[in-house]
Amino acid sequence: MERTYLMVKPDGVERGLIGEIVGRFERKGLKLVAAKLMNVSLERAERHYAEHKGKDFYERLLQFITAGPVFAMVWEGDQAVGLTRAMIGKTNALEAAPGTIRSDFAIHTNFNLIHGSDSPENAAREIGIFFNEEELLSYDKAI
Ligand code: CMP
Repeated sequence: MERTYLMVKPDGVERGLIGEIVGRFERKGLKLVAAKLMNVSLERAERHYAEHKGKDFYERLLQFITAGPVFAMVWEGDQAVGLTRAMIGKTNALEAAPGTIRSDFAIHTNFNLIHGSDSPENAAREIGIFFNEEELLSYDKAI
């Protein structure tokens, strides 16, 4: 079982797309194990986007991700990282395949609605930036 970190960015929250986006992953069959609406501090943003430090879009990216609330989530399921990346679509909206979230709702590379971890290792790192261990729930108990 794999976990991934997904985050509806400020543009997605502002546009009222949380429900649409969460619904897609629910219908796919993935399990939501943590979620919260939150503001991202500059310190968290810098940790999250450390690999992009020095790139020409880095400062813009920090400004954007700290500009308004995000909806931070952890999803679980077989191949959760790859499946959610496929459902999100490529970073550049022009290259995002039809039917993906970015193709259906985004027209801009900067304002691309959602972040998804690109590997299980990065997922573990990013989950640790945004969530405490106690916030990650399990479905082990029978309802
Ligand atoms: P995300 O998946 O959150 O990871 C890095 C983000 O940087 C990316 O989505 C985009 O929002 C943003 N970005 C802006 N310009 C570029 C670029 N040229 N290449 C990659 N990412 C970019």
